[in-house]
Amino acid sequence: MNEVIELLLRRRSIRSFLNKPVDMDLIKDLIRVANHAPSSMNREPWKFIVITDPSIKERLSELHGGARHLANAPVAIAVVAEPDVSPETWMVDVVNATMYFVLAAYSVGLAVAWVAAFENETAKEILKIPKEKKLITLLSVGYPDPSYEVKPKAVKAPEEVIFLNRYGNPLG
Ligand SMILES: Cc1cc2nc3c(=O)[nH]c(=O)nc-3n(C[C@H](O)[C@H](O)[C@H](O)COP(=O)(O)O)c2cc1C
Repeated sequence: MNEVIELLLRRRSIRSFLNKPVDMDLIKDLIRVANHAPSSMNREPWKFIVITDPSIKERLSELHGGARHLANAPVAIAVVAEPDVSPETWMVDVVNATMYFVLAAYSVGLAVAWVAAFENETAKEILKIPKEKKLITLLSVGYPDPSYEVKPKAVKAPEEVIFLNRYGNPLG
């Protein structure tokens, strides 16, 4: 094990945050890290909207049951993909950038939770995201509430996901 692997194994979705502001320069630094994520032809087909306005966070938190944590997060981030910039690979590229951001955030003591908001029309309208861009996800970001209880994580057994040479052939 090394520090990176330990971080990967430790990361969990945290949906409750301390009432403690997050420095905007830190958020900018984390987004700079995200810009280092691999993308096809290095096109970086993504944008990040940093949301601090409580009324916008509140409206977004009402999108669905799984979005409630946005309301108590000091910062929310909308991740936007650009199919017009990278028509064939934007989906993969933007996920790479999202995970770079998330893991970098955990590495500095922040916690993050996703909201499934893929192309949510209401959220796109609230955030004035142009039609040709894709809203991928909304992230709650903040310092973790230590009283938030994380349930043990169910992780698939390796033999369920690893094949050798051909699909379905167990690695053994
Ligand atoms: C694409 C995506 C959408 C998700 N949507 C939500 C959501 O709407 N609300 C939420 O609370 N968690 C959401 N999550 C978090 C997952 O529930 C969580 O990652 C999963 O249960 C595994 O738990 P862990 O992140 O603690 O390892 C989402 C995660 C991903 C990757």
